[in-house]
Amino acid sequence: MQTDRGVTAEKEFQPKIIAFCCNWCSYAGADLAGSGRLSYSADVKIIRVPCSCRINPMFILRAFQKGADGVILAGCHPGDCHYSTGNYFTRRRMTLLFSMLDYMGIEKERTRVEWISAAEGAKFSATMNEFAGEIKKLGRSKRLGDLRCR
Ligand code: FES
Repeated sequence: MQTDRGVTAEKEFQPKIIAFCCNWCSYAGADLAGSGRLSYSADVKIIRVPCSCRINPMFILRAFQKGADGVILAGCHPGDCHYSTGNYFTRRRMTLLFSMLDYMGIEKERTRVEWISAAEGAKFSATMNEFAGEIKKLGRSKRLGDLRCR
């Protein structure tokens, strides 16, 4: 990219980050961050889900397949899930998924599970900024091949 001074500058890498947030805690935490004017990276695109356990690990792989550089899943703190045990299922599923990511050629650091309550707007903002920084350091993710059965 050519600047007005004639200096060639490398276009800064803008990662695509998907944040799956449960409606009752993490999404409300994002709302609180917004109303408290706490900024977080614009690279983070939020997808609101009813509960973190709504996220099938295939959704995360599909996001990588569609070009996401990082995927973060945020839900209520253990014991606070509005569907009582949803986030315990999430924790187990994601542990299994994380153990397979290296095998699939995706760095484990590109995914994360965080527990963020509705009162933790500052934690939401800090977590998203930190995650976006890590993904920037990792660089572009190589796309997964087609995961669908043929
Ligand atoms: Fe938030 Fe279940 S409702 S994790």
